[in-house]
Amino acid sequence: MQRVVTITALRAQIKTWRDQNQTIAFVPTMGNLHQGHFSLVKKAAELADKVVVSIFVNPLQFDDKTDLAAYPRTIETDIQILNSVTCNILFTPTIDDIYPQGMFPHTKVTVPNMDDKLCGFMRPGHFDGVATVVTKLLNIVQADIAVFGEKDYQQLLLIKTLVRNLNLPVDIVGCPTHREQSGLAMSSRNQSLTTQQLQQAPALYQVLLSIKHEIEQGNQDFTALQHHAVSKLLALGFEPEYVDIRREDDLEFAKPGNNELRILAAARLGRTRLIDNIACDLA
Ligand code: PAJ
Repeated sequence: MQRVVTITALRAQIKTWRDQNQTIAFVPTMGNLHQGHFSLVKKAAELADKVVVSIFVNPLQFDDKTDLAAYPRTIETDIQILNSVTCNILFTPTIDDIYPQGMFPHTKVTVPNMDDKLCGFMRPGHFDGVATVVTKLLNIVQADIAVFGEKDYQQLLLIKTLVRNLNLPVDIVGCPTHREQSGLAMSSRNQSLTTQQLQQAPALYQVLLSIKHEIEQGNQDFTALQHHAVSKLLALGFEPEYVDIRREDDLEFAKPGNNELRILAAARLGRTRLIDNIACDLA
């Protein structure tokens, strides 16, 4: 694996591959890589001849400076582990290369209707930061395919929407959420959980599963199901931000009769914010 820092060097390598008719798959990340990230890299290697992974902790998508400062940066370990999977280039751009005009004011990408609900409502500006950096990275790498996790389901839909709306020539592929044996969705943020919180955390997934079970049994009172789940999370020591049953394709509120649903939740355990979601397909 080759580590590339500058956009110029990356573009030169991409051009060489293009001249050789090689296809390219891209996996953008913020580092502190875990098995969830690797499942994306493996998928990328299945889908294309060459794989580019980026690590860039994007300041623009953090609404909280403390959160940005505390975000785990483990580049040496990340490199070691990436060397053991199929990754041809690790791209680690600098902030100055990604934001040559500075961070404020900046040209930004906004995806209406996707950026203001659920996590977007709780973290104003977050999805503008994601949409802007992902557009930049897609323009820099110019891959055929880019792979994202369903773990961040709203992010995945937002990126699919922006690629469609801006006519970007890349296919967006979603990958299932990789979980610990306990059911807890893998996340870089899990590292900040205490031993006790690590035992509590899998309950978030269990709460989602019990909503799914209820819906599959014919319960269509989505509001009551959501309220009940919030109470359950509170009783289990979480500070829930939302538990929502939405339409899978556009994340609008689900109504009885809708068959393809997503059940999504965000909740804090101490200072750590956890998110998770599952599909519920009734068709
Ligand atoms: P990051 O949190 O590092 O995640 C990088 C990619 O890994 C995302 O597509 C995310 O959905 C996926 N991922 C994380 N945990 C996963 C899991 N348990 N199972 C499967 N996939 C998982 O998401 C970001 O970075 C940033 O917002 C980014 C898109 C890189 C833009 O800055």
